[in-house]
Amino acid sequence: MAEQNSFLALAAAGISGLAPYEPGKPAAALEREYGLTDVVKLASNENPLGPSPRVSAALAGALHDLERYPDGAAFALRDRLAGHLQVQPGQLTLGNGSNDVLVLLAETFLSPDVSAVYDQYAFVVYRLAVQACGAEARVAPANPASHAQPFGHNLAAMREQVDDSTRMVFIANPNNPTGTWLQQDALREFLSSLPEHVVTVLDEAYLEYARQSDEQNTLDWLAEFPGLVIVRTFSKAYGLAALRIGYGVSSPAIAELLNRVRQPFNVNSLAQRAALAALDDPDWIVQAVAANRSGMQQLEAGFAELGLPSVPSRGNFLLVDMGSADNAAACNAHLLRSGVIVRPVANYGLPAYLRITVGTAQENQRLLAALRLFLEAI
Ligand SMILES: Cc1ncc(COP(=O)(O)O)c(C=O)c1O
Repeated sequence: MAEQNSFLALAAAGISGLAPYEPGKPAAALEREYGLTDVVKLASNENPLGPSPRVSAALAGALHDLERYPDGAAFALRDRLAGHLQVQPGQLTLGNGSNDVLVLLAETFLSPDVSAVYDQYAFVVYRLAVQACGAEARVAPANPASHAQPFGHNLAAMREQVDDSTRMVFIANPNNPTGTWLQQDALREFLSSLPEHVVTVLDEAYLEYARQSDEQNTLDWLAEFPGLVIVRTFSKAYGLAALRIGYGVSSPAIAELLNRVRQPFNVNSLAQRAALAALDDPDWIVQAVAANRSGMQQLEAGFAELGLPSVPSRGNFLLVDMGSADNAAACNAHLLRSGVIVRPVANYGLPAYLRITVGTAQENQRLLAALRLFLEAI
C-alpha cells in the first residue's frame, strides 16, 4: 500500500480525496520505455495535422523578447478574438488552456458551503476543480448504455441535483470521453429552467468538430442567460495543445470576477501570437474538420469490421467497447507494445472501454492493424 502522505492532514479539505489528473502517455515516454520508434499517439484528442503553417511562421518571428513578460491583458488577441466571435472584448477571459478557465470559474464561485453539478461521465477536470474548492460535488447519473446517446448527459437528472445551494453546473457538449452531444432545444430548455444563482459552464472544447450547419451559435444565448459561460479552446481543432490557450465567453460582469482571480500572466506570449496567427487561417480549420470526418468514418468502419461497438461521437475521438475490463486492459497493453497509445477510461468508471482519438489515415491504419492482431490472438 502507498505510504500515507505525512502532510495530508495539513492540506485543504477538498484535496484529501483528489487523485491527480492522468494525462495520455507522451509518445517519448513510450519510446523510452519500450525502445520503440515511430509511436502513434491517439490518446489526447489532439489534431493530428497540427496547427496552421501560419502559426509556425508567426512563432519563428516571435522568439525574441523571451525575457519580457507577456501582455497580461492580451490586448491584441482579445481584440481579434472578440471580432472573430462578434462579442465585446470585455466578455472574454483567456486561459492557460481552457482547463485554466474551468479552474478559474470554480475558484471564483465555489466554496465549501455550496454545491456544483456535473454528469457521471463528464470531463474529469470538473470533478477535480469542484473538489479542490471543497464544494459539494453532485454527480448526476448519465444516460444508460441502451440510450441513443449512451453514457451521455441526462439533463433531467442534472436538473434534479440543482437546489438553493448550487452555484455551478458543468456541461460538456460534446462530452469527453463519451463523444455524446446534446440537442440545442433540450439544452436551451435546461438553461431556462435553472435558477438565477447558478452559473452554467458550457464547455465546447470540440465545437469546431461538432458544429452542425443548422445549429445556432451558442454565443447568441449569452444575452438571454446571464449566468452562462461558454468555454472554448485552441487545443483541439486549432492544433495548439502544447501552447496552452483557451478562453471563456460570458457577461462582462462574470469576466470581471474571473479577472480578479486570474494569474496576471496566465497566457504566454507565444501562445498569444500563435492564436492570432491561427485565427487568420480559417481554411485550416475547415481542412482539419474534414480530415477528422473522414478519419472518423475510417475508424467507425474499421471498428465495425472488427466487431467492436463504438459510441456515436461528435468529437475527434471514439469510445470503443472492448467487451470487458480485462479485454480493455489487455488490449491497451498490446497496443502500447505495438507503439500505439490510446486512452483507457477506467478512471471514468468505464473500464471496458478505450477512448481512441482520430489520427491521420496512416495512424488510423496502424491502430486498426494492431487491434486486429490483438483480437486474433484472444
Ligand atoms: C471537454 C474538454 N474540456 C476542456 C478540455 C481542456 O483542454 P485545454 O485545457 O487543452 O483547452 C479538454 C481536454 O481534453 C476537454 O476534453
